[in-house]
Amino acid sequence: MFDRDNNQHRTFGRAKGKALSPAQAALMEDVFPKLDVGSAIAAGKNPLGSLEGPLWLEIGFGAAEHLLWQAEHNPQVTILGVEPFLNGVAKAVRGTQEKGLGNIRLHRGDARDVLALLPDGALEKVFVLFPDPWPKARHNKRRIINAAFLEQVYRVLTPGGAFRFGSDIIHYVDWTLTRVLAHGGFDWPAAAHSDWRVRPDDWPSTRYLEKALREGRSGHFFEFIKQ
Ligand SMILES: C[S@@+](CC[C@H](N)C(=O)[O-])C[C@H]1O[C@@H](n2cnc3c(N)ncnc32)[C@H](O)[C@@H]1O
Repeated sequence: MFDRDNNQHRTFGRAKGKALSPAQAALMEDVFPKLDVGSAIAAGKNPLGSLEGPLWLEIGFGAAEHLLWQAEHNPQVTILGVEPFLNGVAKAVRGTQEKGLGNIRLHRGDARDVLALLPDGALEKVFVLFPDPWPKARHNKRRIINAAFLEQVYRVLTPGGAFRFGSDIIHYVDWTLTRVLAHGGFDWPAAAHSDWRVRPDDWPSTRYLEKALREGRSGHFFEFIKQ
């Protein structure tokens, strides 16, 4: 039978917003190529192959607030941020330069292409924070979380590695919990309600989350551990 849940539907909306400012365009031309792992991906190679030390991956970093915070607070780690939206990538490039960070790598594109090229057990952490909710039932198939995606996340994590997921959409929370628990390879070491209702100290807020809070939705914060 056709397995809709495992099919590769487009998971993102716009890939471009308003035109970049001249300063952003210059950064994309001069600085982005130094951070970009796109050529390895185009060649079908592991985009993090030459790097040593702990590796983390943030999928759909949006305006890059969390990506930049984690890179700044974890200088021993290299974080690959993947985001198809040009304006978000430009923000990540600007922040990386302004903060003088040497531990960020970027790919403008679909994170599923990156996951497919990473070796087993390559990553200590994977972040999927407030992914596009696709709330209409006929669009649910576009949600990035599905069985095939979770299997890739599981495969690329090292045992004991963490998969962090957040959402302000309760239906997406249920959707993800159902699929993570059905996968069977992750522990969810939550003991109390506050474990998923209170934002951890090492999980900075973003404009997206602030907007959700202003609109009366609350955040849900999950850390699943690869067994
Ligand atoms: C709702 S925004 C949240 C942004 C950010 N994580 C935050 O919490 O503020 C979801 C982001 O995921 C990105 N996205 C969607 N599908 C993706 C994919 N397949 N690979 C990488 N990023 C993706 C979108 O472009 C969008 O910027």
